[in-house]
Amino acid sequence: MARTPIMAGNWKMNLDHLEANHLVQKLALTLKDLGHDYSATEVVVVPPFTDIRTVQTVVDADDLPIGYGAQDVSTHDEGAYTGEVSTGMLTKLGCSYVVVGHSERREYHGESNELVGAKAKKVLDAGMTPIMCCGEALDIRKAGTHVEYVVGQINAMLAGLSAEEVAKSVIAYEPIWAIGTGEVATPEDAQEVCGAIRVRIAELYDQGVADAVRIQYGGSVKSSNVRDIMGQPDVDGALVGGASLKADEFSKIVTFLK
Ligand code: G3P
Repeated sequence: MARTPIMAGNWKMNLDHLEANHLVQKLALTLKDLGHDYSATEVVVVPPFTDIRTVQTVVDADDLPIGYGAQDVSTHDEGAYTGEVSTGMLTKLGCSYVVVGHSERREYHGESNELVGAKAKKVLDAGMTPIMCCGEALDIRKAGTHVEYVVGQINAMLAGLSAEEVAKSVIAYEPIWAIGTGEVATPEDAQEVCGAIRVRIAELYDQGVADAVRIQYGGSVKSSNVRDIMGQPDVDGALVGGASLKADEFSKIVTFLK
């Protein structure tokens, strides 16, 4: 089954709304100059909450085929949840994706697999697509139990999701030891875990769901390494951090087929 590659830029806590405006415009112009076919490779930007309205304005103004979304979401609809943002607020801003369970949320905010699954369900119920993050720390990688660890994360995150919901979701395998370190996983490392995720989903649901779900790799993706990683059969895209903050570099990553 052919899965459309999806390249997403997670801006994390970077860029104010003026810088966001500039980056999205430069990204769109650069991809236009490169003759990018958005139907062949999907492009998504994931700005801080404060920049989403700006991104929406730029995208809407020129009807740009760039998807956008948020880096987190509340499981509540409204009320006394200081600092949280609801799915309703995000859909009102035209968001189509939400990253949930990023390792930095898990580390700094104690997010569990179960909470990540609940957030993903909330995102799906709102008609958006969750990008569900998973991945092991260095000690687990060194112990050689990384596949079992990630499969355990998948089991817990997907527990409340239907086959249809999982089929239209995105999963991002981001080994923690590769995030922000320059220590990118080898293509074989990425394939090993992304392949194991797909096998597990086939066991939990069926092969059709496993063939439909898109699985990204994230962790020090650059234009110099993306092609080999994307050449792996079970890698359907990249979740890019630092390299997505520069239009030229992220454009090279997005147009990896060229
Ligand atoms: O969500 C993507 C991010 O965690 C990867 O960061 O800077 O290693 O590409 P980076």
